[in-house]
This record gives sequence, structure tokens and C-alpha cells, in this order.
Amino acid sequence: MKVIIAKDYAEVSKLAADVVEKVVRENPTCTLGLATGSSPVGMYKELARRCKEENLDFSKIHSVNLDEYVGLDGTHDQSYRYFMDSNLFDHINIDKANTYVAKGVGNVDDNLKEFNEVLDKADIALQVLGVGPDGHLGFNEPGEFLHDKAHKEVLDESTIDANARFFASRDDVPRYAVTMGMGNIMRAQKLLMVVSGNKQDAMKQLLMTEKIDTKCPATFLRAHRDVVVVLEKALADEIGYKG
Ligand code: GLP
Repeated sequence: MKVIIAKDYAEVSKLAADVVEKVVRENPTCTLGLATGSSPVGMYKELARRCKEENLDFSKIHSVNLDEYVGLDGTHDQSYRYFMDSNLFDHINIDKANTYVAKGVGNVDDNLKEFNEVLDKADIALQVLGVGPDGHLGFNEPGEFLHDKAHKEVLDESTIDANARFFASRDDVPRYAVTMGMGNIMRAQKLLMVVSGNKQDAMKQLLMTEKIDTKCPATFLRAHRDVVVVLEKALADEIGYKG
């Protein structure tokens, strides 16, 4: 695991964008696994700038996203389809027909079948990840066991709390989501975790223990052979991580 400590959020975004850029330049027809959340927003902005100003070419790139809320249509401003369009896809030269975000409305079983078919075919060159304060990846919530493939999850109360800031009220936060499973994430060729915000507990468990624990899904990164974690110095200092 390569851990990069950046001086601030702007530098986190640039260094994370460097990792994505390298993969895209080396393999301009690859599939990227993408993530939502506030952490990768700066990285997406930087990638959009590099696309416009530095000819970073996404025209033949495919993408598949980690997760989507159950109950939100892609036109809902808190859906992850809407997030991806407004934060990245509308600002780069990707063909939106080549981007996949699981459907949040309609029959959940049918949506999961489609999501799993897409994942079975995809060979993800780089999977971008954020991390929840409780260590969740995508919406793989801490628990007694984790899932291999795409599935429906009941969101933890702590995840509903963490994501309530994006909705008019806590009651508006969906209670369910569909998400890639841990197996899908672990099968990506390379993982890039972009860390920002109150992630002390998850980072302590990932960076400062030896455990791989289903109660902190982020710890599974330790079992992957090609991982880059980018975090801010302030967070590293707070948890006493020296690198
Ligand atoms: C949501 C997403 C996760 C994301 C997490 C952290 O729960 N499903 O994929 O990693 O939020 O978000 P943020 O980056 O805003 O802290």
C-alpha cells in the first residue's frame, strides 16, 4: 500500500488526479471505477481541467460507478448519476453512453442483475474510492460479513447521519442503496482511495493496525496488491500517522 500525505485538500486532489491521469494515458480505452462523495470532487475538477487544457482524453474511456441510492432517479440532485454528470461527465469528453451508474428506481432485483452483468464484463483498471467515517466502501457497511458482488444494503444509522448534510432533512436520506460488493472492488487492478473529512477512525484502522476486519471494510485494502491512499497531513497528524 502506497500512502501519500498531501499538505492540503488541493494537493490531495492534484496527486489523486495524477494517479488517474497515468492510468488513462497508459490505457486510453480502459474502464475506470468511479466514486461519489465530497472527497473526490476536487480530483474530478482537476481531471476536467486537464481534459480541457492538457488534452487528457476520455473519449474512449468506459466507467462504472460504485453505488446508487435506492429510490432516487438519475434526475434527482442527490442521485449518484446526477453527481457524476454534474461533477465530471459534463466537463470531460467521455461518451456518456459508456458510463454506467446502477439504476436507483424500478425493480431492485432487475437493477442488480444488470449491475452484476456490467461488473462481470468489466475489467476495472482503476477503482476510485472514498471512505465513510465508519470505514464503509461504496455502501458496503461494517458487519459480520461482507458481500462479493453487487447487492442491496441497508444503510447504517451513522451513514444516514453522515450523508444527511446533502439532503433537506435526515428523513429524506434513502435507507437503502445498491453497491458493488467487496469482491468487485478487490478485483480492480488498482485502487485509489481519496480521503478527506472526519475519517480518523477508519484511517487509524487501515493505516495503524494489522487487522482486516469486516467491521471496517476499508481495512480490506491491505489485502490488495496495488493500492494508493491519498490523505491530508492534518488528518495524518491527528491520528499520529507518520508514514
Ligand atoms: C457515501 C458514498 C461513499 C463515500 C462516502 C464518503 O456514503 N456511498 O462511496 O466514500 O459517502 O463521502 P465523503 O467523501 O463525502 O466523506
